[in-house]
Amino acid sequence: MATETNKQTLPAGRFQAIISHCKEYGFIFPSSEIYDGLQAVYDYGQWGAELKKNIKDYWWKWMTQLQDNIVGIDAAIFMHPTTWKASGHVDGFNDPMIDNKDSKKRYRVDHLIESYTEQLKTEGKEAEADAIISEMEKADAAGDLTALKKLIDDNKIKCPVSGTSNWTDIRQFNLMFSTEFGSTVSSEDENNKVYLRPETAQGIFVNFLNVQKTGRMKIPFGIAQIGKAFRNEIVARQFIFRMREFEQMEMQFFIRPGTQKEWYEYWKQARLKWHLELGVPDTEYRFHDHVKLAHYADAACDIEFNFPIGFKELEGIHSRTDYDLSRHQEFSRKKMQYFDNDVNPETGKPYGNYIPYVIETSIGLDRMFLSMVCAAYTEEDLSTPEKQDSRVVLKFPAKLAPIKLAVFPLLKKDGLPEIAQEIMAQYRGEFKCFYEEKDAIGKRYRRMDALGVPFCITIDHQTKEDGTVTIRHRDSMEQERISIEKIGHIVSQAIS
Ligand code: GAP
Repeated sequence: MATETNKQTLPAGRFQAIISHCKEYGFIFPSSEIYDGLQAVYDYGQWGAELKKNIKDYWWKWMTQLQDNIVGIDAAIFMHPTTWKASGHVDGFNDPMIDNKDSKKRYRVDHLIESYTEQLKTEGKEAEADAIISEMEKADAAGDLTALKKLIDDNKIKCPVSGTSNWTDIRQFNLMFSTEFGSTVSSEDENNKVYLRPETAQGIFVNFLNVQKTGRMKIPFGIAQIGKAFRNEIVARQFIFRMREFEQMEMQFFIRPGTQKEWYEYWKQARLKWHLELGVPDTEYRFHDHVKLAHYADAACDIEFNFPIGFKELEGIHSRTDYDLSRHQEFSRKKMQYFDNDVNPETGKPYGNYIPYVIETSIGLDRMFLSMVCAAYTEEDLSTPEKQDSRVVLKFPAKLAPIKLAVFPLLKKDGLPEIAQEIMAQYRGEFKCFYEEKDAIGKRYRRMDALGVPFCITIDHQTKEDGTVTIRHRDSMEQERISIEKIGHIVSQAIS
């Protein structure tokens, strides 16, 4: 019987172990590693790319195929620069930053204070930590940079690199990356400046009427999108939790003004259900209501996940009012209105023209990836009185697993590889299969456990006699004898 130790390992050690595992088994590599990497930018390796694609497909299918009234688009990363003036990002997408004069390191103020309070908590000073956080949130909500600086000074918060409290004043820092369009004009020319989108949502807003008209969509309806977003995060650490280039899966749900409270509640519950359907215990998720609302929101919350670094934001649900569409109407001078010919029971007349309100669901694909790896990562002690043994296994939900079926001939001879290849040919069109004939079977199982493969089958001499194989189940490690015909059914059922 295996003893699970996945929740016993110290959180910091556990996070490090997960990061190392991701690299060692081809899930995630630091970007351009041969040049010592690029901070907060990562590449997905052969199995990471498969897992990421499966998460994307799961979200996309749920959003667009399983709902009557949500369609997907794929807008460009570059958008007209006025988009970002209208959206408020040019003026308002800032974070308060502070520099340490000795180490020359720059920090996001909230992160610096949060790290300090985490430290207080490990010393058992919970109440003190909570008081500091609450003061920080109040100052942050009021945009009071002096109060934030005072909080750092009063608590003598130190730079983790220099160990000193020799700080500059706090300044606002815009998080958007920019570049120039065209090749002939001077790069100094502000008119050529384009931004790498910091969120995918604006690609949906500017296409609102295109989709509504061509798709003959009736309110309430949604537009979904998956795509890259870029933010010049200052404190970009914690692996793929906070990246400079990342992917978002966002959906804007357009509704009649006045109905935002009920739709906001609806989407909060619907999105939590989506997470829970993957089988991770509900104790690993919680809602966190925003104290400081973004410039566009009248209500907002996060679904937080219990990462090894603590409960942190995984997905945001935002009631964005008519802010974005109104601003695009104002800046583009194009009408962003919808004509609602449903009859208002209060007036007996159609609702008529209005700018729709919007509920947004926004999840980072990379963060979702990280949450799935953290939930799946399990260290098991398999020791018996005779022998010490252990394994690391990624217990992914079968539908997300990068490889669904591993196929092993017991030996590299006696016609066993040929049968194994026939099985590969039979199933590789339906789901991702992996062929392996090197090393002892036990070693091959361990390698597949480390990749999270839910099923391994072994072809042996009995297969030649009666057409059966051994199937081994990843989580229980149980093995059973089944006929070759049954393989497809077992795997398909698990991933459907
Ligand atoms: N359109 C709304 C929006 O972008 P957000 O809370 O800034 O809202 C939404 O981002 C989600 O995108 C977050 O919940 C998180 O999962 C992901 N995200 C944001 N910044 C990220 C970063 N630097 N690295 C990885 N994921 C990030």
